[in-house]
Amino acid sequence: MPNITLITGDEVNLPFFDLKQQISRMQDEINRAIGGVLERGIFILGAEGGAFEREFAAYCGAAEAVGVASGTDALHLTLRALGIGTGDEVITVTHTAVASVAAIEMAGARPALVDIDPLRYTLDPHQLGAALTPRTRAVLPVHLYGCPANLEPILSFAHQHGLRVIEDCAQAHGARYQGKPVGSWGVAAAFSFYPTKNLGAFGDGGAVTTNNPELAERVRLLRRHGWQERYISQVKGVNSCLDELQAAILRVKLQYLDEWNARRRELANLYSALLANRGVILPHQPDDCSHVFHQYVIRHPQRDRLRASLKSQGIETLVHYPVPVHLQPAYRNLGYETGSLPESEAAARQVLSLPLYPEMTEADIQHISQAVCLFLDKSSF
Ligand SMILES: Cc1ncc(COP(=O)(O)O)c(C=O)c1O
Repeated sequence: MPNITLITGDEVNLPFFDLKQQISRMQDEINRAIGGVLERGIFILGAEGGAFEREFAAYCGAAEAVGVASGTDALHLTLRALGIGTGDEVITVTHTAVASVAAIEMAGARPALVDIDPLRYTLDPHQLGAALTPRTRAVLPVHLYGCPANLEPILSFAHQHGLRVIEDCAQAHGARYQGKPVGSWGVAAAFSFYPTKNLGAFGDGGAVTTNNPELAERVRLLRRHGWQERYISQVKGVNSCLDELQAAILRVKLQYLDEWNARRRELANLYSALLANRGVILPHQPDDCSHVFHQYVIRHPQRDRLRASLKSQGIETLVHYPVPVHLQPAYRNLGYETGSLPESEAAARQVLSLPLYPEMTEADIQHISQAVCLFLDKSSF
């Protein structure tokens, strides 16, 4: 049976996500983890954070992980630790969460925005040449929706031009490219543990992974005011730590991540089987990748009408993302015209994320698919 939840004013039978179900299934383990932190009485930079960093680095196949306060900070501090700032340019996509772009500006650099490959919704490597200038220092591909970006041509372009590659893995914990986990391909990678991510904390959190121990040390320095010795700043840093409670919760949840990702894939495949050949574009799963379906995103020219039809049946959906970053009011300063990044602009008009989380049932997916098909049948007349 679908889960029943009420959201102010509108009746929602199938919410976009429901974290309460996940938490209730692991309540005892979570309570024990939180209890341990309370007993020790250390809340910032203690044993849980250190243990989580080691476990998460091993999970990602990286030598080091550094816990920080958010995914945005993970990107920002990585850029700063690499010495990227004023006068530098970083190439990334416009079809992403605004944080990917905001972090580049936080570091003082200029985001150079490029279009996506419309099949996988990630950075189109063919666009890199046109965005390259003498000031380009790095490329920041985003593994959007849980689908790894096409890293091989991106890494080879970066290598050819002496650029760093920083992976934005905020939506792709556990995804694999050519059999190897994301987060271990570039010089560094940024993860978010925002509560609804595939691996989510009970608040904000993030991590940087890297195979470069010196880079990890620089991020450690920057996350704590540049202190090697308490209260004496060697460099100008910030206050951005993954706290002990979040680390303890994430250590419990990390043990379930592969199982949850496998369940997401199973449910995504069921959606794709039920919606095949019905006139919607379905998510692409590249052969050499393991997609972790942070979002299950379909595409239709009448997206807004489809969304309204689902809402009228109590099915909550979201749009990731309705306006590409280059067309958002705050980023008009970057100087991109409407029409300049056409694949991203078309995707923003047509994409629709359907509910997908590991605790959903096959019946939930069938119910939503039927509602989508009902709309498609009606709109084809
Ligand atoms: C692709 C992407 N990058 C970066 C971030 C930023 O993460 P956080 O919200 O933890 O700062 C997010 C979070 O929504 C994201 O989806």
